[in-house]
Amino acid sequence: MLLERIEALKAQISELTASNEEALEALRIKYLSKKGEVTALFNEFRNVSPEMKREFGQKLNELKNFATEKINELRETCKAQEKEANKIDITRPATPEVVGTRHPLSLVRKEIIDIFSRLGFTLADGPEVEDDWHVFSALNFAADHPARDMQDTFFINQDDKEVQRNIILRSHTSSVQVRTMERQKPPIRIICPGRVYRNEAITARAHCFFHQIEGLYIDKNVSFADLKQVLLLFAQELFGKDTKIRLRPSYFPFTEPSAEMDVSCMLCGGEGCGFCKHTGWVEILGCGMVDPNVLESCGIDSKVYSGYAFGLGIERITNLKYMVKDLRMFSENDVRFLNEFQAAH
Ligand code: PHE
Repeated sequence: MLLERIEALKAQISELTASNEEALEALRIKYLSKKGEVTALFNEFRNVSPEMKREFGQKLNELKNFATEKINELRETCKAQEKEANKIDITRPATPEVVGTRHPLSLVRKEIIDIFSRLGFTLADGPEVEDDWHVFSALNFAADHPARDMQDTFFINQDDKEVQRNIILRSHTSSVQVRTMERQKPPIRIICPGRVYRNEAITARAHCFFHQIEGLYIDKNVSFADLKQVLLLFAQELFGKDTKIRLRPSYFPFTEPSAEMDVSCMLCGGEGCGFCKHTGWVEILGCGMVDPNVLESCGIDSKVYSGYAFGLGIERITNLKYMVKDLRMFSENDVRFLNEFQAAH
């Protein structure tokens, strides 16, 4: 009987469930599409006897509405479930944010720059690929000075033989001092931080590149006493108020007189220990009064002006401050090493 079939279909539809939109669409097609089961009953309408048509038509429409409502209801449930699944669970523990650390060389460079900035020095910069003039000739290096040898300096390999001998990687940042003196009239008071290159085998104690900070002060009546006072202040700011300095005579082509500076050992305070090889002193920098030849090469009148210069290695100072035993650690990017400097920020 048709009426029974309507009831059966209604019972079936009332039990329907769907876990996602796809399953739901399959149900809609099964019952309500052109070839669906509900539609099939409509097609049988014409076979119904006239006296039954009214009741039957009513029931059929009810069934159709019931099925449509049921499908819509299921659609709402599906949407709600999907929304729930995509919800962010705010109770889950967060992924930890890994915060980077400053490189130890950057920390020490910043500390040194800060000290000299307070003394009135400004920053100067220059290229790492340089010419012979700015690295050697203007700085009073003799034509046969050993530093000009292939063994000490990197030459840029170019086809033009003339250029090949002339273009090099700077072996010290004194080249920036030359560039500044060429461009600027005294008084000049600058520090030049930067990377420098030397043709050395890489070991725990030497590397083919490292970092320097050099300083230059040119004015009227600048004396060696001024140099010594600035360096004493610098050493005490960097290593502590009780630090002592001593200057030993030395030689650089671009300074006369020249000196090397030691500071009292930061471990034993000058008593003598294994770290300072029982001398009480450790060497930290080279310095001197700018050679008049250098001033003249850069267009500065050496009868009117005098000046001092100093240069130090940032790796060396970092080793002394943090007792880093192996220079290679600075360029290996090992986070375990870098993380040790988190507290130094
Ligand atoms: N340029 C020297 C070096 O690289 C350091 C230095 C600078 C020495 C200035 C004296 C004066 O070793």
